[in-house]
Amino acid sequence: MADIKVRLLRSDDDRSGFESGHMDLDRFFRQYAAQNQFRHHLGATYVAHDGAHVLGYMTISAGHIEIDDLPKSRRKKLPHYPLPILRLARLAVDRSAQGRGIGKLLLRSVFEISRNMAESFGCVGVVVDAKAEAEAVAFYERYGFEALDVIEGKLGSRPEPLPMFIPIGSIPKR
Ligand SMILES: CC(C)(COP(=O)(O)OP(=O)(O)OC[C@H]1O[C@@H](n2cnc3c(N)ncnc32)[C@H](O)[C@@H]1OP(=O)(O)O)[C@@H](O)C(=O)NCCC(=O)NCCS
Repeated sequence: MADIKVRLLRSDDDRSGFESGHMDLDRFFRQYAAQNQFRHHLGATYVAHDGAHVLGYMTISAGHIEIDDLPKSRRKKLPHYPLPILRLARLAVDRSAQGRGIGKLLLRSVFEISRNMAESFGCVGVVVDAKAEAEAVAFYERYGFEALDVIEGKLGSRPEPLPMFIPIGSIPKR
C-alpha cells in the first residue's frame, strides 16, 4: 500500500479502462467525473493511484441535512436549520485492485477531509449514498455508518440509493 497515493483527479488521468463491476459508478467516472469537477464544480473526485494507473476513486461534495432526517439519537441539541455535511457521492475500486485496502484508504481520505471541513467551516458528519445492495451497505456499516432511511417493499433488481450517515464525533481519528 505504501506506493498508492490518494490525490485529486487530473484532467489527463486515463479513466477509460476503469471497471469496478458497478456499471453506474464506472460510467460516471469515465464520462462525467472530469467535466463535473473542472467545468461545473459540482464536486471533487479523488483517485487512488499507483503512479501508473488509477485503482479507485471517490467523489465528494459539500451538502446539508435537515435535523429530522438524522437518526433520533443524533438530533439532541442540534438546531432546526440545514446542517452542513460532507456528501460521499461515489466510491469504487477497480476489479483488479479490490480487496487490497484501497476502499479503506479512500474512505480514510473522506474522513480526513470531513474533519478539516468541521474545523474550517462546519460539518456534522458524512452522508454516503450507498447503493442499497447488501455489499455496499455492509462495507459502510463496518466503518460506523448507519442507514438514514429504511426502504420498504422495493425488491426490484435496480438498486435504490440508501443514504447512510456517520456523525463527526464517531469518525476515527486515523
Ligand atoms: C465496495 C468496495 C468499494 C470495497 O473496496 P475494496 O478496496 O475492495 O475494499 P478494501 O480492500 O479496502 O476493504 C476494506 C475492509 O472492508 C472489507 N470489505 C470489503 N468489501 C466489503 C463488502 N462488500 N462488505 C463488507 N466488507 C467489505 C474488507 O474485508 C476490509 O476489511 P478489513 O479492514 O477488516 O480487512 C469495492 O469492492 C467496489 O468498488 N465494489 C464495487 C462498487 C461498489 O459496490 N461501491 C460501493 C459504493 S456504492
